[in-house]
Amino acid sequence: MRQIKPSVYAVGAIDWDARLFDRLIPLPDGTSYNSYVVRGNEKTVLIDTVDPTKTDVLLDNLVRLGINKIDYVVANHGEQDHSGSLSDVLLIYPDAKVVTNPKCKGMLIDLLDIEEDKFITVEDGDTLSLGNKTLQFIYTPWVHWPETMSTYLVEDRILFSCDFFGAHLATSSLFVDDNAKVLEDAKRYYAEIMMPFRRQINSNLDKLAEFQIDMIAPSHGPIHDHPELIIEAYRDWVSETVKNEVIVAYVSMHGSTAKMVSHFVEAMIDRGIAVRQFELSTVDIGKLAMALVDAATVVIATPMVLAGAHPAVIYATFLTNALRPKTKFVSIIGSYGWGGKMIEQLTGIMSNIKAEILEPVLSRGEPKENDFAAIDKLADDIHAKHKEIGITN
Ligand code: FEO
Repeated sequence: MRQIKPSVYAVGAIDWDARLFDRLIPLPDGTSYNSYVVRGNEKTVLIDTVDPTKTDVLLDNLVRLGINKIDYVVANHGEQDHSGSLSDVLLIYPDAKVVTNPKCKGMLIDLLDIEEDKFITVEDGDTLSLGNKTLQFIYTPWVHWPETMSTYLVEDRILFSCDFFGAHLATSSLFVDDNAKVLEDAKRYYAEIMMPFRRQINSNLDKLAEFQIDMIAPSHGPIHDHPELIIEAYRDWVSETVKNEVIVAYVSMHGSTAKMVSHFVEAMIDRGIAVRQFELSTVDIGKLAMALVDAATVVIATPMVLAGAHPAVIYATFLTNALRPKTKFVSIIGSYGWGGKMIEQLTGIMSNIKAEILEPVLSRGEPKENDFAAIDKLADDIHAKHKEIGITN
């Protein structure tokens, strides 16, 4: 429990040991579930709660802060890592009303079985007075669910943004004190859950530009007391701009695909194009997701197995498609023994990615001279395409 500004406190929990979110997303640096108390001279509000595994930390912090009465609990988002302690908070503070938008209200009833009469619903732009402090509710949908909103503390110019601008980072620092580390974890977070909604996020950034924001207090990771750092990073990530980078995501069973990948990587380096190679049976999928934020081109490489692409490649391709990166060009490299339909299978999975598909290269068995020549041609094609869109010379 720590003070951010007079009468504004952080009361959430640090989860140092968390290593997987949603049983899917790696958390190499842990995370935090941030929750905030704002004490007005008339009313007290709790902004978001914490993951149910950390309810005791939140309640203990409220007791230590001497909070005898909560008038409102603002729910910016329905997902359980922020709403999961709500039922317990309402049990301990029975007079509290849950303040949220109608969509989130429906979710909280569905997910947590909270009674209808506990809610006060707010529309976009509505305000709520705490006496000498005022909350304003700003709808910021699709960061990363449809009901997500942010809460602006008018007098202190603090934006409580929930997942928006967050980072999965467990740290004892209340405020950002290592820009590079926070940006890395924020980019990972953006890549893993926000990227599919980048156009809506862009609209939300435009909307927030109308507010004077001195601090952004998200619900994961440290507080941004220089908010321009994270706002500018988001502007870059959601923009249409891609970088002169190629991702090669691959698996090899008996070495043929690996030889083709090595040749391709060298060919990219020779042409002055940044390249990142990810071996998919051991990859931290978050690192692949981060690379997808900026790369102009993605090349998938796989051996044929069970008449199709390797299952690890199918999984990575499925996730890539779900993340809807702004990738402009895609190709496939592969090897096979007797046949199969990996090209049709992989291009079918990538239906969300509006990228041009460059001529794939398939080798029968060990790659031979003509296969390496085809890879060189693919490298030339990628170089020409990157030139065409103005990201290389
Ligand atoms: Fe941090 Fe969408 O929950």
